[in-house]
Amino acid sequence: MNKEFISKSENSEDKKAVFKEFDAINQEMVAKAKEDMVKLVDVSVELDGRYILKDINLTVKRGEILVIIGSSGSGKSTLLKLIIGLLKPTSGQIWIDGKNITMIHEDDLNEIRLKMGMVFQYSALFDSMSIGDNVAFGLKEHTDLDESVIKEIVTEKLGLVDLKGIEDNMPNTLSGGMKKRVGLARAIAIDPQIVLYDEPTSGLDPINSKVIDELIVSTKKAIQATAVVVTHDIKSAFTISDRIAMLHEGSFVIMGTPEEVKKSENPVVKNFINGFVT
Ligand SMILES: Nc1ncnc2c1ncn2[C@@H]1O[C@H](COP(=O)(O)OP(=O)(O)OP(=O)(O)O)[C@@H](O)[C@H]1O
Ligand SMILES: [Mg+2]
Repeated sequence: MNKEFISKSENSEDKKAVFKEFDAINQEMVAKAKEDMVKLVDVSVELDGRYILKDINLTVKRGEILVIIGSSGSGKSTLLKLIIGLLKPTSGQIWIDGKNITMIHEDDLNEIRLKMGMVFQYSALFDSMSIGDNVAFGLKEHTDLDESVIKEIVTEKLGLVDLKGIEDNMPNTLSGGMKKRVGLARAIAIDPQIVLYDEPTSGLDPINSKVIDELIVSTKKAIQATAVVVTHDIKSAFTISDRIAMLHEGSFVIMGTPEEVKKSENPVVKNFINGFVT
C-alpha cells in the first residue's frame, strides 16, 4: 500500500475496506504459492566459467506432469539436481512447496528432500540389499515407523509397480525393466509430493517403456504427486505430459502444452521433434 492510498483512507470504514482488500490480495498470494510446487526464478548455473543453465524461469503446479526434453548436454540432469537440492545455482531462487531452498540451512533442506523422490537413470539399486530392503531404505532412514508398517508399505508400493511378492529377491536376479520399476517403488515409498525422473525409459524396450509411462501417470493419480520427467523419448513426452519444456544450450526454447509444442514454428524445436518422432 502506498502513502497516498493510506492517507486517503482516514475514516474507519475506508480503513476496513483497505484491510479487506489487502487481506484478499494476501490470501490470493498464499493460495497461488501453494499451487506452485516447484518454482525457479532467474536461475543460472555457471561451472568452470561456462553457463550450463542461464536465466531459467519455471513453475510446476501441484499435481502436474512436466516433461523436460532437449539434446544431450542441454542441462536437463543439472536442472533436476537443482530441484532436489544436490546442486546450488550460481544465481536465482529455487522454491519448493513455498520454501526458498537457496536460502535455507542444510537440516531444513533434508526435510524438504523428504518431500521428493528421485528415479535415477540406471535405477541405482543397492546390489547387496534385497528388493524389499531397497524399497524400504528411505522409510528406515527417515521415519520411526514400525518394521511391520514398513513391510506393509513396501508390499503396497511393489504392488503399484506390478511387482508383488519379490521382496526377498536380490537386484541381480531382475531384468533392467524390473529394476527400473523397483527404482520407482523406492522413490515413491515415502509418499513424496514431488517425483523427479531422469530418463526413466532410456534403454528399455517399447513394451517396458510403455509400462513405465503408464506407471508415471498412474503414480501421479495414486499419490497426487507432482512430476518432473526428463526424457529423450519424444513419444513418451507427448503421451504423459501436461506440459513440455525444451532446453537448448541451457535455456528454454519453448514451454507449453503438447499441442503447442507440436505446432511450434521454432526450427530448433521442429528439428528436435521431427528427428525423434517417426
Ligand atoms: N560438475 C560439472 N562440472 C562441469 N560441467 C558439468 C558438470 N556437470 C555437468 N556439466 C556440463 O553441463 C552440461 C549439461 O549437463 P547435463 O548433464 O545437465 O546434460 P543433460 O541434458 O542431462 O545431457 P544428457 O541428455 O546427455 O543426460 C554438459 O555440457 C556437461 O558437460
Ligand atoms: Mg542427463
